[in-house]
Amino acid sequence: MSALFQPFQLKDVTLRNRIAVPPMCQYMAEQGVPNDWHLNHYASLARGGAGLIIVEATAVSPEGRITPNCTGLWNDEQAQAFVPIVEAIQTAGAVPGIQLGHAGRKASANRPWDGDDHIAEEDAKGWQTLSPSAIPFGANLSRMPKAMTLEDIQRVQNDFVAAAERARDIGFQWLELHFAHGYLGQSFLSPHANQRDDNYGGSFENRARFLVETVRAVKQVWPDNLPLTARLGVIEFDGNDEQQLEEAIALTNLLKAEGLDFLNVSISFSTPTASIPWGPGFMAPIAERIRHAAAIPVASAWGIDAPQLAEHTVAQGQLDLVMIGRAHLANPHWPYEAAKALRVEKPSWVLPASYAHWLERY
Ligand SMILES: Cc1cc2nc3c(=O)[nH]c(=O)nc-3n(C[C@H](O)[C@H](O)[C@H](O)COP(=O)(O)O)c2cc1C
Repeated sequence: MSALFQPFQLKDVTLRNRIAVPPMCQYMAEQGVPNDWHLNHYASLARGGAGLIIVEATAVSPEGRITPNCTGLWNDEQAQAFVPIVEAIQTAGAVPGIQLGHAGRKASANRPWDGDDHIAEEDAKGWQTLSPSAIPFGANLSRMPKAMTLEDIQRVQNDFVAAAERARDIGFQWLELHFAHGYLGQSFLSPHANQRDDNYGGSFENRARFLVETVRAVKQVWPDNLPLTARLGVIEFDGNDEQQLEEAIALTNLLKAEGLDFLNVSISFSTPTASIPWGPGFMAPIAERIRHAAAIPVASAWGIDAPQLAEHTVAQGQLDLVMIGRAHLANPHWPYEAAKALRVEKPSWVLPASYAHWLERY
């Protein structure tokens, strides 16, 4: 019996298996509005058999986009354009989730295949970035951000709430707040980005404040019966790892007290000088530690795409859900390949009947 193909229930949401597609930006939207590219992309992923599809990092405000081509959820036109995407995911039997984020000092960038660097300051396509402190990320993203005022902080938190309301109203069933990867939420937590001397900087409690308040505010509008989750960078790999892990566990406990149901465990990416020990499934033992220490269900990504490894992480209790990213871009039917490799009975039936019937028959 495969652990990977067991259902997973959280609140009123039941996933058909433990396979999730993590948020993956497509950089294909105009004015934040998703289009046919996104519809086809997400429908195809959902038909491939994963239990949960988390739609890409979607900005809560125009200045929160990573690139000019990121999706957004700060207006009703964007919300309406997501409706067929939500329906297509659901029709294919997967649960529709969305990641809401603000890119902070990493915003105003060119698409990865157009340079992956900050848009030149004199180029009207770009915009003023925001961060807890006026400290640039560095390397390819060296634009100087504006240090946020208390009014900026309040406004961005209100933007998160308004976007969460739109996500709720158009039928998303799983909400992930983006507190990872060096974007705004992560930047408040990280001393690499946050050198404030007010209530939002300095001590752990102060650096955690923006994230705790944002979860608290979003919880007011997100339905109690649906999972409220976050993606958190729990480790930077900058030599200060143990302190970061302990802070991540303490923060997870604080967020749980505010109503967080689940954590997608990831990397901090707050400094370009980190030394990350890339390898298959290298984040899974770290996620397992958070899972036990904070007593919360977790997912993680990063090179878990070998079916036996994915199975192992769930069977051994390291992860509740396995995030399979790039392997899904290479093959949206990855769950079918995994089901075959794990000798699941009638593996084709992870796919829709109009495919499965023929694959099982001949
Ligand atoms: C094209 C692409 C876009 C991504 N966009 C996001 C994103 O929107 N939000 C996020 O948290 N992570 C993003 N990531 C990271 C993935 O969610 C995932 O963590 C990463 O690909 C590692 O998992 P994998 O080894 O299974 O691909 C992106 C990755 C890729 C390849």
